[in-house]
Amino acid sequence: MERVYLDHAATTPLDPRVFEAMLPVLREGWGNPSGIYREAQTARKALDEARDTVAARLECAPAEIVFTSGGTESDNSAIRGVSAAWRAERRAPPGHMITSAVEHHAVLEPMEALERDGWEVTVLPVDREGLVDPASVQAAVRDDTALVSIMTANNEVGTLQPIAEIARAAKSRNPATLVHTDAVQAAGAIDIRPDLLGVDLLSLTAHKIYGPKGAGALFVRHRTPFRPLLIGGGQEGDRRAGTENVAGAVGLATALDLAHAEMDARNAHVGGLRDRLWRNLREGIGDVSLNGPRDMRGRLPNNLSLCFPGVEGESILLHLDMEGVAASSVSACSTGSTEPSHVLTAMGIDPDIAHSALRLTLGLGNTEAQIDRVGRALPEVIARLRALSPIR
Ligand SMILES: Cc1ncc(COP(=O)(O)O)c(C=O)c1O
Repeated sequence: MERVYLDHAATTPLDPRVFEAMLPVLREGWGNPSGIYREAQTARKALDEARDTVAARLECAPAEIVFTSGGTESDNSAIRGVSAAWRAERRAPPGHMITSAVEHHAVLEPMEALERDGWEVTVLPVDREGLVDPASVQAAVRDDTALVSIMTANNEVGTLQPIAEIARAAKSRNPATLVHTDAVQAAGAIDIRPDLLGVDLLSLTAHKIYGPKGAGALFVRHRTPFRPLLIGGGQEGDRRAGTENVAGAVGLATALDLAHAEMDARNAHVGGLRDRLWRNLREGIGDVSLNGPRDMRGRLPNNLSLCFPGVEGESILLHLDMEGVAASSVSACSTGSTEPSHVLTAMGIDPDIAHSALRLTLGLGNTEAQIDRVGRALPEVIARLRALSPIR
């Protein structure tokens, strides 16, 4: 049976063109880019070109790009990097940070760690669709607010945040407050140029845009007070120690370049299939609700997050897997946990209903035939599970 992969928010397959671009680096560019001999220079050239490409796509200076091991490290570095600089450069006591209740754990947990170190953290609520109100950001900013960290697009429900408005609101209250955005899920789907968004720091990862795992970047605006999370050899302009993953950086740059060039076509492809799937499921299943923005333009074009009251998301996943379909109940990172999604509960969804959540995230390899197969299989799975359910 042909498998249907509908978990592109968890990770994407490697684009063969990205693989091809990485191969020569793995074969011939294995030198340490910090060396001064020829082998090193081959690696250095590939790394410099990758940095130039990422910078060109973000319309920033190459020196503002720090290569990292992915989204988690970029988020941790942004939060830790700003907090450490705040303490070291101002010789100030721990200050204040702002984030939202629907952030990825790669943001929420470093924030909790800062709280244990004496920082104050305001976690802003979201509305029913997962949106942060820019006015609530403005109201929360204080004289000692070092950083506001709000994601560009949510990984579970696909909500697109008004980041430019949020950044403007924060800085209108305190121009010294820095703004970070986790653009891991937004990259490739919307315009994430930092100047457009008005942010000082921005996180990226390659494996959500058909690049390799273990490769990411953090944009750090020129003159932003920042201290490295990883210290050691002083690589990446003293902002991230460790010999660079040159092939990974080339993979990220190539994936970002392709995503940029093909953005409209990709969005049309996955958006069209997503809308078709939603139509089929609405018709095939009574009692199904859409999580996140009702207006499809307010969410990532490949995201369909649904709740099926009376059934367990985990059971749906297992049955779908037997039908050849890969999906997710919540974010992959919290799979195995029995807690309902913090994103759905923050949106005011009843925890019992949140347990029935299913996230379908489409990608470039999906076809109409595959989507129609899921449109038939999923209603059957739900009907079977509801017939077994003791609750109904
Ligand atoms: C919004 C968001 N931020 C951060 C991450 C972590 O990225 P990585 O897997 O590259 O560490 C993810 C991945 O699930 C994500 O969806």
